[in-house]
Amino acid sequence: MTSADGRYTMLRGDVRFTNVTFGYNPDKPVLHDITWFAKPGQKIALVGATGAGKTTVTNLINRFYDIQEGQILYDGIDVKNIRKADLRSSLGIVLQDVNLFTGTVMDNIRYGRLDATDEECIEAAKLTNADGFIRMLPDGYQTVLKGDGSGLSQGQRQLISIARAAVADPPAMILDEATSSIDTRTEEVVQAGMDALMEGRTVFVIAHRLSTVRNSDVIMVLDHGRIIERGSHDELIALGGEYYQLYTGAVELE
Ligand SMILES: Nc1ncnc2c1ncn2[C@@H]1O[C@H](COP(=O)(O)OP(=O)(O)OP(=O)(O)O)[C@@H](O)[C@H]1O
Ligand SMILES: [Mg+2]
Repeated sequence: MTSADGRYTMLRGDVRFTNVTFGYNPDKPVLHDITWFAKPGQKIALVGATGAGKTTVTNLINRFYDIQEGQILYDGIDVKNIRKADLRSSLGIVLQDVNLFTGTVMDNIRYGRLDATDEECIEAAKLTNADGFIRMLPDGYQTVLKGDGSGLSQGQRQLISIARAAVADPPAMILDEATSSIDTRTEEVVQAGMDALMEGRTVFVIAHRLSTVRNSDVIMVLDHGRIIERGSHDELIALGGEYYQLYTGAVELE
């Protein structure tokens, strides 16, 4: 909410798009008349073919770009009236590409919230399943990562980025699920960490795993910048439309 000095902290995680139209080039819209809302704590899965507009929707949630038509509200406040820096501290982001820096594991986790104590960083790592492997590192939390964390496996890098998001403890999150193959055991650990991170927050997830999609409260199917279907997994399966096609097609691949 906005305080006297105009700063904003998202408290509940209520996010609404009303008749949003947007193009990276204003003459060429890539999202057309998008209307939807996320109630606090809901999991919203964005699915659709490549180029459908999933990343673009998350770019707008982040306010990386301003919209041309329509309105985006956070807890009832127009995004245009929210400073970008304030918005980003209220909104966690876990992307496919993990950004680690040279420094200790502890500091890499603390990057999520710079005033977090060591105890809070460890708490976040425990919550998100990262604590186990960190304790096995030569110097535990004080292990210095070289470069961008090249000494770690991809799954371990993801666990650190999930712990980093957890220490920030934002009411809302954007999550771009990794598609890259990590081994099944690591994948289970990462998935459990993600599940713990999502608990109790509004989450927008660009989902690649069917289990994530199935467990979402609302699935939005995008096609050429329009929402063509929305509903729960069961509702959309019963509808027998695009989601049904995607879902049954993907199941055959497994
Ligand atoms: N930075 C950009 N500048 C101009 N056009 C862009 C930009 N990013 C995406 N687009 C265009 O916007 C449309 C939607 O792209 P978007 O990246 O949102 O798709 P997506 O659903 O995330 O696809 P994918 O599954 O491949 O990630 C596409 O036509 C794309 O070419
Ligand atoms: Mg994308």
